[in-house]
Amino acid sequence: MNSFDQPINAVVQGASRGLGLAFVERLLDSDQLAGLVATCRDPRQADELQALAQRSGGRLAVTGLDVTDEAQIAEAAAFTDERFDDLHLLLNVAGILHDETRDIYPEKKLDDVQPASALYSFRVNALGPLLVMKHFVGLLAAGQRAVVANLSAKVGSIGANQMGGWYSHRGSKAAQNMFTRTVALELKHHKKTRHAICVGLYPGTVDTELSAPFQSNISEDKIFSPSRAADQLLKVIDELEPTDSGGFYDWSGKSIQW
Ligand SMILES: NC(=O)c1ccc[n+]([C@@H]2O[C@H](COP(=O)([O-])OP(=O)(O)OC[C@H]3O[C@@H](n4cnc5c(N)ncnc54)[C@H](OP(=O)(O)O)[C@@H]3O)[C@@H](O)[C@H]2O)c1
Repeated sequence: MNSFDQPINAVVQGASRGLGLAFVERLLDSDQLAGLVATCRDPRQADELQALAQRSGGRLAVTGLDVTDEAQIAEAAAFTDERFDDLHLLLNVAGILHDETRDIYPEKKLDDVQPASALYSFRVNALGPLLVMKHFVGLLAAGQRAVVANLSAKVGSIGANQMGGWYSHRGSKAAQNMFTRTVALELKHHKKTRHAICVGLYPGTVDTELSAPFQSNISEDKIFSPSRAADQLLKVIDELEPTDSGGFYDWSGKSIQW
């Protein structure tokens, strides 16, 4: 994280497994990291994250946060505020594509759309990061480099949609992208946050539980390990300029059409 002038404090929201856990591992490897708060729905079940916290020499603290519960988001923000004078990096990682227990799966056709499942996808993928930004942007460092990155998906691009299907996932990620852009504009209007950068990031296909059922049609060399994907996105974040705020970028730093 060479673009930051000083050791940074970071939050990884959605850190129990997959890409979020990989972000935590990679950030802890960096000498540039001063402190890290990692959030997840159930810290007691997050064994790998807790093990990292124990080995972190006090740099990593774990707290609970379900993005569908605004009170928990507010509590996690207060927890972070107690630890850090300033926040330099906020990664909104949690997301959902399928959840058998909730009957959520990518719809193939219009007839498959179920209101309760679609609404839950919107609560996690769109409203979740929006509410996290609502409660955490007040902690961002004033007058210093600060980055908010929301993990999005290329299927959330309206312009790039040539395949159809996946209504709830596409719609919820497109809504998230609109929220990212709108928050970026609001941050620019305030003196304290006008240097802050707020972007949507697409990690590529990453070998996690989220993508596991959909990997068979993708060649192996196009599927990234979580740690490689985290490294690639941290490099993209490091290279972002304030003028890039409000944009949507892939793992190589290339801009994705809305
Ligand atoms: N993997 C890919 O190929 C790919 C491609 C494009 C975009 N993305 C995006 O990258 C992000 C990370 O995906 P991933 O592949 O790492 O997924 P993953 O391995 O399935 O992990 C999903 C994470 O989201 C958390 N989560 C789910 N619902 C939540 C809620 N209500 N509140 C808080 N946390 C919740 C999960 O926590 P629990 O452990 O508590 O369930 C878990 O930590 C997502 O936003 C996804 O859309 C991934």
